[in-house]
Amino acid sequence: MVLTAVEDLKSDAGREAARSVASGMRLGLGTGSTVAWFLRHLGARLASGELADVVGVPTSIRTEKAARRLGIPLGTLSELAPLDLTVDGADEVDPQLNLIKGLGGALLREKMVAQASDRFVVVADDTKVVNRLGERAHLPVEVVPFEFDSHFKWLQALGADPEVRRNEGGEVYATDNGLVVIDCGFVNGIDDPRELDRRLARRAGVVESGLFLGMASEAVIAGAEGVRRMRPAGSLT
Ligand code: A5P
Repeated sequence: MVLTAVEDLKSDAGREAARSVASGMRLGLGTGSTVAWFLRHLGARLASGELADVVGVPTSIRTEKAARRLGIPLGTLSELAPLDLTVDGADEVDPQLNLIKGLGGALLREKMVAQASDRFVVVADDTKVVNRLGERAHLPVEVVPFEFDSHFKWLQALGADPEVRRNEGGEVYATDNGLVVIDCGFVNGIDDPRELDRRLARRAGVVESGLFLGMASEAVIAGAEGVRRMRPAGSLT
């Protein structure tokens, strides 16, 4: 198979993360094109007999289908938590490994699975590394469908440029949870992600946002020079 440069990098990151998996582990399986590579490498290690007794909790219907195709055994969060390791992608990664996630629409399940994990490893190519969250990616905010546009003025007052996510056909996009996503642009990035996170968490009708702050233990970042492992800036390990 001929891969484009960026697909090569995603495959490299996925392969390296799959090396972190040991027999007997309970895994969280993230969502996205980089995780798809992680799943392929994980499936190959299982098929070859290099790994055994691994079971995963998928964070989306898409990941569930891919894992089944690849012969990765699956279970539920209630059966398996606490999980040993979750591997998931990101749309932005800052030096403290704070993340924006959710371009693939799976943010709520991704956060539920990540919070149930002892270790949360991010897989990404180096285009995702930023100094400040929101400088490139929009922040997805998952809300209940009822009066979803009533949040727009409130989000604008927080400095966001909100837009409801739509399918290619123009209909309002629905997540696996039947909810709506409002993508929020921030012209100069997000000034204070923690304060924004607090405000979003207190807002009735908002179910979850794509801010993953202080959750990732490590990031596996693939670039032209190879794959590096990042820890949160300032951490001792
Ligand atoms: C899915 O909802 C997202 O959080 C993904 O993890 C994120 O968008 C990264 O996806 P890619 O690996 O496809 O860039």
